[in-house]
Amino acid sequence: MIRNTFLLLTLGAMSTMAQDPEDEPQTWPTPDRGSFVISNFTFDAGETLDRLDIHYRTLGEPKFNADGSNNVVLIGHGSTASSEQFLNDGFAGALFNPGQVLDAQKYFIIMPDGIGHGNSSKPSNTGLRARFPSYQYSDMVRVNHRLVTEHLKLNHTRLVMGVSMGAMHTWVMGSEYPDFTDALFPIACQPAQIAGHNRLWRKLAIELLRTDPAWHGGNYTKQPLASLSGVLSLLQTMFSSAVDLQARYPTRDAMDAFVDALLPHVPEYDANDQLYAWNASHTYDPEPQLGAIRVPLTAVNTADDLMNPPQLGLLERAVGQLMRPGLGKAVVIPESEHTVGHGSYIMAKLWVQELELLLARTEARNGTSY
Ligand SMILES: *[C@@H]1O[C@H](CO)[C@@H](O)[C@H](O)[C@H]1NC(C)=O
Ligand SMILES: *[C@@H]1O[C@H](CO)[C@@H](O)[C@H](O)[C@H]1NC(C)=O
Ligand SMILES: *[C@@H]1O[C@H](CO)[C@@H](O)[C@H](O)[C@H]1NC(C)=O
Ligand SMILES: *[C@@H]1O[C@H](CO)[C@@H](O)[C@H](O)[C@H]1NC(C)=O
Ligand SMILES: *[C@@H]1O[C@H](CO)[C@@H](O)[C@H](O)[C@H]1NC(C)=O
Ligand SMILES: *[C@@H]1O[C@H](CO)[C@@H](O)[C@H](O)[C@H]1NC(C)=O
Repeated sequence: MIRNTFLLLTLGAMSTMAQDPEDEPQTWPTPDRGSFVISNFTFDAGETLDRLDIHYRTLGEPKFNADGSNNVVLIGHGSTASSEQFLNDGFAGALFNPGQVLDAQKYFIIMPDGIGHGNSSKPSNTGLRARFPSYQYSDMVRVNHRLVTEHLKLNHTRLVMGVSMGAMHTWVMGSEYPDFTDALFPIACQPAQIAGHNRLWRKLAIELLRTDPAWHGGNYTKQPLASLSGVLSLLQTMFSSAVDLQARYPTRDAMDAFVDALLPHVPEYDANDQLYAWNASHTYDPEPQLGAIRVPLTAVNTADDLMNPPQLGLLERAVGQLMRPGLGKAVVIPESEHTVGHGSYIMAKLWVQELELLLARTEARNGTSY
């Protein structure tokens, strides 16, 4: 079954949805799955969970070089998504095959499901519902770091990258653990507190759910469908780009059919999971720590990303605050017939050249400073 229908539909997967995905030949290598169980995990806000399960997918095998460098790549997914979101033609099929930039025969690729997401512990799959601890990005990054270092016993990575929320985690990882990676590649985010327009819709989403009597303080027995639809509608709108939607749905009837196909999927989502995931960026504020980032970073956004509009200049401002000029590079890909708004992050062909350049400029980690 296809998860995250709203995101998939936004990403143009409507045609895939209509068919049985089993009929389509898979264009990427199949990941292994694993689980990291943490006992008595204490969140930064002070609450403790007696058992936190972190689900993850991997491809390839770790390999080490004499200079201590290795081939480990950590990839973080977007809000309310999971590692599953990478398993499609445009991402996994464009990066992980033999000869491609993150060839799984060459790299060891780790794709965790963050706290509260996918098959990791979350309000809906622990029975805790609104008693699940309110997790933040700081907790998610710390757990991903423990997954790599404690569970997989790898003290370092070749690359940390991520999309949307995973991109925000990439900035945080770079400053919290400055020696953890050789290179940082955040795609589709702003390295700044979530405020202004980006906060407007998130706060509205959170308050729609929280103030809905049908939410019952998180104890609902049926999904609070009106507020949940509201949240998903906001998300859908923020994910989209006007140019892309106009091209794909140029008539009233075409767009109506799109919305009519979307709405029956609302009950597949969980209100508490949504609420927690959107609130997890509450304390995100990487800017004061940017000076701690010590390794090359390339940040990519697209010009038609409504969540991260380039006219705010936040990406350039952040890159300017890194330790020294030249360490960071801010790239804004112009809007084109190939971009689809925020969801452009999943289309590797748009930014794979920048990834190649970043890997090339961080090739030698043998005692030389960058
Ligand atoms: C977790 O905490 C409980 C209660 O404080 C304790 O009994 C248990 O031994 C702890 N488990 C681990 C693995 O530390
Ligand atoms: C990290 O692990 C590698 C491979 O086991 C080893 O060569 C290297 O010295 C370690 N580095 C540190 C800082 O512990
Ligand atoms: C969770 O695991 C189940 C069973 O292994 C799988 O069918 C499902 O797709 C997974 N969900 C996510 C979001 O990864
Ligand atoms: C929800 O249920 C929990 C116990 O499971 C209870 O402590 C809490 O007061 C309930 N909240 C509401 C708003 O009913
Ligand atoms: C959102 O997160 C903040 C910071 O952890 C917390 O204080 C607040 O209670 C959370 N709000 C909701 C609605 O969970
Ligand atoms: C580091 O490696 C590069 C390329 O492999 C080599 O040219 C350079 O001399 C090495 N530097 C040191 C300090 O070993």
